[in-house]
Amino acid sequence: MNQSQYDAVIIGGGAAGLSLALHLAKNAKIAVITKGPLREGATYYAQGGISAVLDAKDSVESHIEDTQVAGAGLCDPEVVRYTVEHGREAIDWLVECGVIFDQETRPDGSTDFHLTREGGHSHRRILHAADATGKEIQNTLVGQLKRHPNIDVLENHIAIDLITSGKLGQGNNHCVGCYVLDKLKQQVITLASRFTVLATGGAGKAYLYTSNPDVSTGDGIAMAWRAGCRVANMEFIQFHPTCLYHPKAKSFLITEAIRGEGGILRLPDGTRFMPKFHPDAELAPRDIVARAIDHEMKRLGIDCVYLDITHQPADFIRSHFPTVYTRALEFGIDITREPIPVVPAAHYTCGGVMTNKQGQTDIGNLYAIGETAFTGLHGANRMASNSLLECLVFAKATAEDIAAKLNDAVELPPLPKWDASRVTKSPEDVVIAHDWDELRRVMWDYVGIVRTDKRLQRALIRIRVLQKEIDEYYASHIVNNDSLELRNLVLVAELIVRSAISRKESRGLHYTLDYPEPDDTNPHNTILEAQQRK
Ligand code: FAD
Ligand code: SIN
Repeated sequence: MNQSQYDAVIIGGGAAGLSLALHLAKNAKIAVITKGPLREGATYYAQGGISAVLDAKDSVESHIEDTQVAGAGLCDPEVVRYTVEHGREAIDWLVECGVIFDQETRPDGSTDFHLTREGGHSHRRILHAADATGKEIQNTLVGQLKRHPNIDVLENHIAIDLITSGKLGQGNNHCVGCYVLDKLKQQVITLASRFTVLATGGAGKAYLYTSNPDVSTGDGIAMAWRAGCRVANMEFIQFHPTCLYHPKAKSFLITEAIRGEGGILRLPDGTRFMPKFHPDAELAPRDIVARAIDHEMKRLGIDCVYLDITHQPADFIRSHFPTVYTRALEFGIDITREPIPVVPAAHYTCGGVMTNKQGQTDIGNLYAIGETAFTGLHGANRMASNSLLECLVFAKATAEDIAAKLNDAVELPPLPKWDASRVTKSPEDVVIAHDWDELRRVMWDYVGIVRTDKRLQRALIRIRVLQKEIDEYYASHIVNNDSLELRNLVLVAELIVRSAISRKESRGLHYTLDYPEPDDTNPHNTILEAQQRK
C-alpha cells in the first residue's frame, strides 16, 4: 500500500514535534516522520538549557523584558508574555515525562533546580542537564513516544511536499497530506491527514559553518512557501558566538553557559575585549557578542578568539560541562587548563513560517511549530534558551487547537499518487555536491554577520543561477535525499537574501554597513507573501 491515512501527520521529531505528538496522541492516530534517525535534530544537540522563571528573585516581567531587549524592538509583546507565562507549565510537563534537570543543594539543606545564566538574561533562569540538556529531553520524549500505541514513527522518511486542496483544484485551500520519500526503500508514499504539522527545525545548513546538524535544511519553510504560506523575518539568522575552531571539529558548539559561569573571551595575546563593546561584556545579547568577535577577527586578521574558563576549579568545569570537556579533549584541548579556540557560526533561524498562537499557518489544517515557525517571540534576535521553551509552549497550544477539531466530521479526498513517469535516475550526482558547496559558501561570504547591499545583490544573482540548475535537475531526475534538501536550501537561501535586501537598517542580527543604524521610525517585520515570488 502506498497510501496511509492519519488524523495528524507531524513532520519532524525534535522537541516541537515530539511534544506535540505526545500531547495529541490520546485521542488521535498520529504519524511522526523524521528524515534521519529519530534522535537526529537540533534538539538532541542543545547544550545550555531551557529558560523559565522559577527562582523567587526572578519574575515573569523580567524574563519578558530581557526577551524584548534581546529582540531589538521586534518581539510581539503578546507572544512573549504568552510564552514566558507558560514556562513553568512546560517545565512541569517535561519533569512529568521523566526529564531530569540538574539540582543543587541550598544552604538550608533543601534541593532545587540548579539555574544557570546565559547572554541577555538578567537572572539565573536556565534549567539544564549539565551541558547536554537537549539529549536528556530528546531521549526522554523518544522513550515516551515509542511506548505510545497511537503513534507510528517513520524514521528515514523525508517529506517532499505538502498536498493541498488548492493544488488538487478543489478550492478553499487547505492541507490534506504530503508526499514522503521512504529513503530505505527508495519509494515515494502518500500520507493523507486531516492535520499536518511542520516541525522540521531550522536552516543553519544554508551556511558553510554552522552549529546545526545535517538535517537542518529548512525543509518545512520551503514546503510551506511552495504551498502558499507567508514567511517572515528570514534575514535574522543568528550566529552563535562560540563554536569550536578546529579543522576536524564539525559543528561543535561551546555552550554560552560557559560564559554564564564566568568564561572570558580573549584575543590571542590574552587581552579581554568584550567590555569595550557592551556593559554586559561576555553576557551581552548574542548578536552583539558575535559581531564583536567578527570585528576583532577582521581587525587583527586572526582565525579565532579564545574562551577562557580556566580560572574555575577543574572539578566544577568537568561536572558542569562534561560534553564540552570531553569533546575538546578529543582534539587535544584541556579546557580546565587552556582557553578554547572559538569562532561564530550560523546557529538559529529566527524567521520562518508565519503562525498565530495556535500554530496555524495561512493554509487551513496546516500548522508550524518550533524553529520552523515564526511566532513573533524572538524579534530581531533570539535570547539564549528561549527556543526549546517556544517549541514546548507552542506544541501544547497547537495540540489543543487540533484536539478541539478532531470530532468534526471530515472526509479526506482521494489523493493522487506521486508521479514519477517523467523522471530518470541521474547519471551523475556531482552537480548536487558542487551546488551544495557553492550555495553554502556564497551564504557565508556574502550573507553573514556583516552585510552590504552589494554583497547581498551578488549573493542573489548567484543563488538564482543555482536555483535554475537545481530546479531543472529536480524536474528530470528521480528524487533522493540530497536533491530534496538542496532544492529546499536554495529556496530558503533566496528568502533569506530577499528579506535581508529589503531591510534598510541595522537591527538585531541584521547588520549592514550601508545602513548601520536602526530606523526607529519604522520598526517592522519582513513579510514575504507567496504572490511576490520573484
Ligand atoms: P529539531 O530538533 O531540529 O528537529 C527537526 C526534525 O525535523 C528532525 O527530526 C528532522 O529529522 C526532521 N525533519 C526535517 N526536515 C524533514 C523532512 N523534510 N522530512 C521529515 N523530517 C524532517 N535552544 C535552546 O533553547 N537551548 C539550548 O541550549 C540550545 N542549544 C543549542 C545547541 C545547538 C548545537 C543547536 C544546533 C541549537 C541549540 N538550540 C538551543 C536551539 C534549539 O535546539 C532548536 O531551536 C530546537 O531544538 C529546534 O527544535 P525543533 O523541534 O523545532 O527542530
Ligand atoms: C548554548 O548552549 O549556548 C545554546 C543556547 C541556545 O542556543 O539557546
